[in-house]
Amino acid sequence: TGLVTLDSGFMNTASCESKITYIDGDAGILRYRGYPIEQLAEQSSFLEVAYLLIKGELPTATELSAFTERVERHTHLHDNFKALIGAFPQDAHPMAVLSSAVSALPGYYPESVDPFDENAVELATVLLLAKLPTIAAYAFRRSRGEEMIGPDQSLGYVPDFLRMSFANGGGYETDPELVKALNLLLILHADHEQNCSTSTVRIVGSAHANLYASVSAGIGALSGPLHGGANEAVLAMLNDIQSSDDDVDTFMTRVKNKEQGVRLMGFGHRVYKNYDPRAAIVKGVAHTVLEKLGKSDEQLEIAMRLEEIALSDEYFIQRKLYPNVDFYTGLIYKAMGFPTNMFTPLFAVGRAPGWIAQWREMMNDPTTKIGRPRQVYTGHAEREYVGVDAR
Ligand code: CMC
Repeated sequence: TGLVTLDSGFMNTASCESKITYIDGDAGILRYRGYPIEQLAEQSSFLEVAYLLIKGELPTATELSAFTERVERHTHLHDNFKALIGAFPQDAHPMAVLSSAVSALPGYYPESVDPFDENAVELATVLLLAKLPTIAAYAFRRSRGEEMIGPDQSLGYVPDFLRMSFANGGGYETDPELVKALNLLLILHADHEQNCSTSTVRIVGSAHANLYASVSAGIGALSGPLHGGANEAVLAMLNDIQSSDDDVDTFMTRVKNKEQGVRLMGFGHRVYKNYDPRAAIVKGVAHTVLEKLGKSDEQLEIAMRLEEIALSDEYFIQRKLYPNVDFYTGLIYKAMGFPTNMFTPLFAVGRAPGWIAQWREMMNDPTTKIGRPRQVYTGHAEREYVGVDAR
């Protein structure tokens, strides 16, 4: 069996070759298919970036409109499928609804399940991109005890997601500034190479499980507070600081003393040992959106103060801990009107193109083997079985 090397957390083990996303963590660089994240965030649209990640090239105008039309045609939910989501308790966490709904999709679309049928994979790709916002918006409405609002394909992907989430009764006017901000945030989350959820998607897919089963497992991984759940955890942390008697400095002392369960959430990253380029963009957007909405947010002040302290503190400097993408996103989502339990579902809607692109790249790579790490056994040596009466 050869020599087995222990690498807990895969600190130094590459699981695959990939052409999708490039990160230089020391320099703070992120590129999708070679394009700098800053340019895509400023100039592109979410579905265009999805196409880029999945197909490898930016689409022509014709390709983009054909892709967009195909996605928009599938945004509706089957009545039975609505009933499935409707069967969840009202206070169910939307991430539970999202992962369950995605794992149920192959039951409704068996023609899209075969991982080796190109047309089926193309259909599954489109169905996932199309249905995730509708499912997330419906889960959000249900949590408020409201009826689902069906999609309106004429509005476009991001504006319609906002409408399905927030419209009440009469018309809903989408604020172009919010559409722009959400579009940008989704782009920033669209891929991040072999992170925990993406590696999960790949490892499930490596057993030749279908795209839905793989993505559903990825949603489960994303829900963890050390991963996508961090955006929710950041807001919980800011709430705690705001409502406790502790000031920011006292909180930071607790972090540095490594008090059980106290971390500066939204800080640190396995790969970035420099400012996360996404965090720099998000910080700018947080200011614009909050200003535009006329929300002077005390929590934004607290967050900026935490960052300021951290960036000049030996503990954080030594460990190269900088704000990551999750540090400021929650404040923007909150200003848009989303409750904290919707933050991670928004991350999932954004990350879907990355999961799909990575799963497809893996399935098309003839060198792919089933993901099956080895272990270093530290248990008992052989011993004799003892009957229950003699124990
Ligand atoms: N606050 C305080 N100390 C920290 C933090 C933090 N946020 N992050 C890392 N450290 C310390 C850690 O205690 C350790 O110290 P020491 O060397 O004395 O033992 C050192 O820094 C290295 O940390 P690590 O946990 O070994 O690093 P990792 O690469 O295993 O973990 C991480 C990376 C992102 C899980 C971690 O930094 C963390 O828990 N951050 C807070 C949660 C968070 O913001 N997650 C979002 C990540 S980015 C987006 C995403 O993936 O969804």
